[in-house]
Amino acid sequence: MSEPVVSLPVHGAATHLGTGPQLEEAFPPANDLLLEVRGLVKHFPGRRRRAGRAAGGHVRAVDGVSFWLHRGETLGLVGESGCGKTTTGRAVLRLIEPTAGEIRFRGQDVRAMDRQALRAFRRQAQIVFQDPFGSLNPRLTVGAMLDEVLRVHRLGGDRDGRRRRIAELLERVGLGSEHVDRYPHEFSGGQRQRLGIARSLAVEPELLVLDEPVSALDVSVQAQVVNLLEDLQAELGLTYLIIAHDLSLVEHVSDRVAVMYLGRIVETAPVAELYRAPRHPYTRALLSAIPRPDPIAGRAGRIVLIGDVPSPVSPPSGCPFHPRCPHPGKDEGCARLVPDLEGKAPGHFAACLKEAGTL
Ligand SMILES: Nc1ncnc2c1ncn2[C@@H]1O[C@H](COP(=O)(O)OP(=O)(O)OP(=O)(O)O)[C@@H](O)[C@H]1O
Ligand code: SF4
Ligand SMILES: [Mg+2]
Repeated sequence: MSEPVVSLPVHGAATHLGTGPQLEEAFPPANDLLLEVRGLVKHFPGRRRRAGRAAGGHVRAVDGVSFWLHRGETLGLVGESGCGKTTTGRAVLRLIEPTAGEIRFRGQDVRAMDRQALRAFRRQAQIVFQDPFGSLNPRLTVGAMLDEVLRVHRLGGDRDGRRRRIAELLERVGLGSEHVDRYPHEFSGGQRQRLGIARSLAVEPELLVLDEPVSALDVSVQAQVVNLLEDLQAELGLTYLIIAHDLSLVEHVSDRVAVMYLGRIVETAPVAELYRAPRHPYTRALLSAIPRPDPIAGRAGRIVLIGDVPSPVSPPSGCPFHPRCPHPGKDEGCARLVPDLEGKAPGHFAACLKEAGTL
């Protein structure tokens, strides 16, 4: 049977349209969604050589990423260093301008927002960084920092109202009013991350992009901050896009997971399904590296990938994973055709030509 092939400008190669539904066609109705991201692209200019000539072309940091977020859910975004997780998070919030793609927040076109609409969006969608210290002004006390945020956004009312709101915010993140007059350097790592979260919550957001929120913290403190994030989500109905290296953490906190490789999502599924039955060879390799007390029947031992992640300046032709892929069915088609994210099971999409669907 001949393969249906269309030409799209992705990595300069033909795109493979398989038999299952494409992710892009499977978006839930817009009314149910807080965030819709379709075909997000962010390319950075390459380093420049003498006479202004680009040295190595564009860095394809994010190369056609699509996902959605229901209100109140958590999507975990995972993948090796440099695969484009942070760039995705920042581009979705327009902290950096996307090169292409569509972003809708509560149905509104984020890329078309004027200054005023963008300001309102920035209140509703906040980012929490990995390094809480780097994102806190060292010259402001905690009280002054939170007061400034409230004043800028005209929240909390008069001085007394803002003071009450600040006390409430600190309490909500597990700190006390005794911390109001302290400076960031007087806090431990875990407390600083609590402050970073309090600052984000001050503007009453609906969406938090959490970029490695606990990876800079001691293991003993990580669980406390994760519990805080879970409590806040339950209390305030927050929606999370959580970016993390730690696959056990992502399994613990996420409803759904998306796995990135070289600027693209290669697999996405509900969390239990993705961890129990991964359908992309890259996901299998990532998961095989997690030490588990309860090895899942049928899961092979650790899969060690050969070679480094290729440069996002010149990604491989066809399936971007093909130079490292251990799939026994890999063939020359893998170097020629770019696999789309295709439905393999209900709610489960993977970009692999050699994985049959069970739909
Ligand atoms: N401002 C920039 N200019 C040029 N290249 C960039 C820029 N920011 C990121 N990149 C490149 O884009 C790619 C994706 O980077 P990104 O920071 O999004 O990855 P990541 O998945 O968050 O990695 P990590 O897990 O290490 O945080 C990398 O190759 C990175 O070097
Ligand atoms: S398409 Fe081919 S190279 Fe890519 S993941 Fe599947 S088997 Fe591996
Ligand atoms: Mg990052």
